Amino acid sequence: MAKHKKKRPKHGCYFRDGKRMAYFCLVYIEEVESFLETLKKNLQGLGFHIEVHDGKKTDKKFMLLHVPDDILLDLSEAYDIGVAEKKLGLDGRRWTHNIFHTPLSHMYMSETKKGNLTSCAKIMIIQKVLESIQFGSETHARSVYRMIEMNLLDTVFPLHDGYPIDETMKLPDKYLNDRQLLTKYWANFSMWYKSVPTDAIERYYGPEIAYYFAWVHNFNLMLIIPSIMGLLVVIFGIATAHQSVAVHDFIEKNWMFCARCFRYRDCKFHQLKSYYKLFFWNYVFDNYITVTYTIIMSVWGTVGMNLWKREWHILQVKWGVTFDDDEIGARSAYIDRVMKKYDPRTKKIEAYVPRIENVMRMVFSISICLVMISVVILAVVGVITTKLLLKMALTEYLHDSTTTFVMIVGCILQVCFIKGFGEIYENLSIRLTDIENPKHQRDYDSSVLYKGYLLAFANNYAPFFYIAFVKGINFSQPGTNNFFIQQDNCQPSTCIGDLATNLFFIITFKRLVGNLLVLFKPPLKKIFKTLLFFKKKQIAEERLPQYETEYNLLPTNRYLLTSEFCEMVINYGFVSLFFAACPFASFFILLNNLMEQRLDAYKINVRFRRPLPRNVSGIGAWDGVILGITYLSTATNAFLIGITGDVVSYASYAINQWEQHYRYRSYANYTMSRFKTEDFDFYRKVNNTPEYCYYRGMRLGPEDEKKYSIDGPYWEDVTWRLITIFVFEHFVLMFNSVLGFIIPDYPKCVKDQLNLDRQLAKEAKLLMLKEEREESGQPDEWERYDKRPDFSKGEGPIRPSLLNVKNQWNEHILI
Ligand SMILES: *[C@@H]1O[C@H](CO)[C@@H](O)[C@H](O)[C@H]1NC(C)=O
Ligand SMILES: *[C@@H]1O[C@H](CO)[C@@H](O)[C@H](O)[C@H]1NC(C)=O
Repeated sequence: MAKHKKKRPKHGCYFRDGKRMAYFCLVYIEEVESFLETLKKNLQGLGFHIEVHDGKKTDKKFMLLHVPDDILLDLSEAYDIGVAEKKLGLDGRRWTHNIFHTPLSHMYMSETKKGNLTSCAKIMIIQKVLESIQFGSETHARSVYRMIEMNLLDTVFPLHDGYPIDETMKLPDKYLNDRQLLTKYWANFSMWYKSVPTDAIERYYGPEIAYYFAWVHNFNLMLIIPSIMGLLVVIFGIATAHQSVAVHDFIEKNWMFCARCFRYRDCKFHQLKSYYKLFFWNYVFDNYITVTYTIIMSVWGTVGMNLWKREWHILQVKWGVTFDDDEIGARSAYIDRVMKKYDPRTKKIEAYVPRIENVMRMVFSISICLVMISVVILAVVGVITTKLLLKMALTEYLHDSTTTFVMIVGCILQVCFIKGFGEIYENLSIRLTDIENPKHQRDYDSSVLYKGYLLAFANNYAPFFYIAFVKGINFSQPGTNNFFIQQDNCQPSTCIGDLATNLFFIITFKRLVGNLLVLFKPPLKKIFKTLLFFKKKQIAEERLPQYETEYNLLPTNRYLLTSEFCEMVINYGFVSLFFAACPFASFFILLNNLMEQRLDAYKINVRFRRPLPRNVSGIGAWDGVILGITYLSTATNAFLIGITGDVVSYASYAINQWEQHYRYRSYANYTMSRFKTEDFDFYRKVNNTPEYCYYRGMRLGPEDEKKYSIDGPYWEDVTWRLITIFVFEHFVLMFNSVLGFIIPDYPKCVKDQLNLDRQLAKEAKLLMLKEEREESGQPDEWERYDKRPDFSKGEGPIRPSLLNVKNQWNEHILI
């Protein structure tokens, strides 16, 4: 025994006596010290221990808080935190192989004894106290967060359990602190294929962050099937493309494609053959199999959401959080900024906002949002114009590779805009919500979330909606010499391939830039700062105390997770909105998520100060957003198949052939029309013009009386397309609602557990009532019953007859 007795390394931040552990740190500057006396006195009055340290590298002062365990336990009862029993018997995923688990999946971190609060629970309790502590004599002079707003405090943050990475990492797991265990097994890229230890995260960071990672984990598991299937679909497409009518019929013709030119100089006619690659890739992403894939995947969103609901209910029961623990009262910023009025109901002076003011604020905030969205859309238009101009300028030099080069440049520009606007609107949505000034914190949070998401939505998806539904339906016969119509379209084929390649590049570049930003932004900032201010280098590289090290980390705010979540939900949209155009998107999003998830973990665990844990019951308003995306995806996929893609045309061509119309020799003959170049002035001025050229469209030929007007098959094709959209949408919606109905929201283990809990609670209550009654010396209910007068013997008052009859009747029914 004695041989193994290693000294347990001491983790965490301690008072000077080396015994009392500090849980929270308040930072302030010397001058305001006199204002803090009341706060200190009030905290000490509650039994808090306080110790002030001078900063080593800054002129700030650090006030450390320690609370003895017995006081914390009393407070935990009062606030109902950390007392809920965690139930660990509810693991639905025991069937996965061990290589997908880390030691953290089985071990609920350092052992929890009853009445032993985790550091997370301790922080939650202290935070509750700090939120309501009085620091002055006026009634609204409460909460340390208020003091930060009034510049009496610099900042307040909870302390970690220790350093994330240090020399003790070499010791066996049982000597590590929780943060180090999380760094080793969770915030670690070599764990990319392992399951996420949500229980351990919940224990250390609280439910809010744990729900986020649980959702991401669920999302990733859901992506496995579409990824594999999507890759197979693409491989199938590549294998069959060459023989398909959609490719073969075009390239075997000696047709000239009607040039789309804007200047005489580069107006050259090419053979349809030279567009082989375009036809090929469009077929790969747009054929019968991809449509089948889209139909199968149309239930993916609903199934995923239902599986998440089940998982969520397990987690709720497991962690004992079934309600949001938010402030119920009005926000302090709200009370400050509004008028006060006497309320006859509560007989108190209450905060009051005239309705017209509320409306004005709303309108203002919404209009700023709309302006932002238009700016985002303008940026998209800017990128498109840049691409067109670049293309015109470069065609002479780059020839065939122009399109690829221009597309990549366009994607890089787009990613720059997405990232740049992203930085702006995170703050913007908070500022705008401040103007709106909602009364309750919950409304405030969801307002920030919706605005942030709306802007992110416009920012991320606008280019793709443009390609799919503007550029994609932009077909015209020669003769309309409008810059945009002539230049920005995907003729002679469809835009599906364009959409797919753009998606691929943007997803990849975004991740690349994101990774670089996370890994290199803070070090670069530091270097920049030192260069800028010519700061003297540290003379002695002595180690700073833990509180000061953590003070130097990036500050966290309430919306740290909101922006991460927004990013993930945007990824969800990339997958589900564009199934029909981009079967491989799920694979790349999966890769991206695996990386992003570890990166988020690393950020939270190592780069940021410890976030304030929050007791929430789920992912909140995101559930609604995800549901909305799922519905929207039905529409976008229907339109992608029906409008942007060409599968419906293959089908209607096949039907024509099968009915032996033989009106069309080939598929190319069906979808393309002939144009006499003499009929267009512009073409006449160009050298080497062929006599006829072909363009995409089902129009009459030059010989016909009604030259170039719409031909019969066009309407046939349009009808088929509309029918496809209608049928797809209705079928999917119906099927999804049936599925939502079939899959139960509560797994059996949760139902059993809830029933058991209810029963136990009832029994405990009855027991308590009985004990109370015995203590107060009252006769027991049943005893009294026995001592009642015997009505049948004519003692006492006569029973009401109606009751009697009713009882008899009931008995009769029962028999
Ligand atoms: C990450 O995991 C690997 C493999 O288990 C381990 O060797 C490494 O030390 C871990 N990294 C950190 C920072 O703990
Ligand atoms: C397609 O073939 C038919 C039948 O030979 C012919 O009348 C029609 O002009 C052709 N269309 C085109 C665009 O070549």
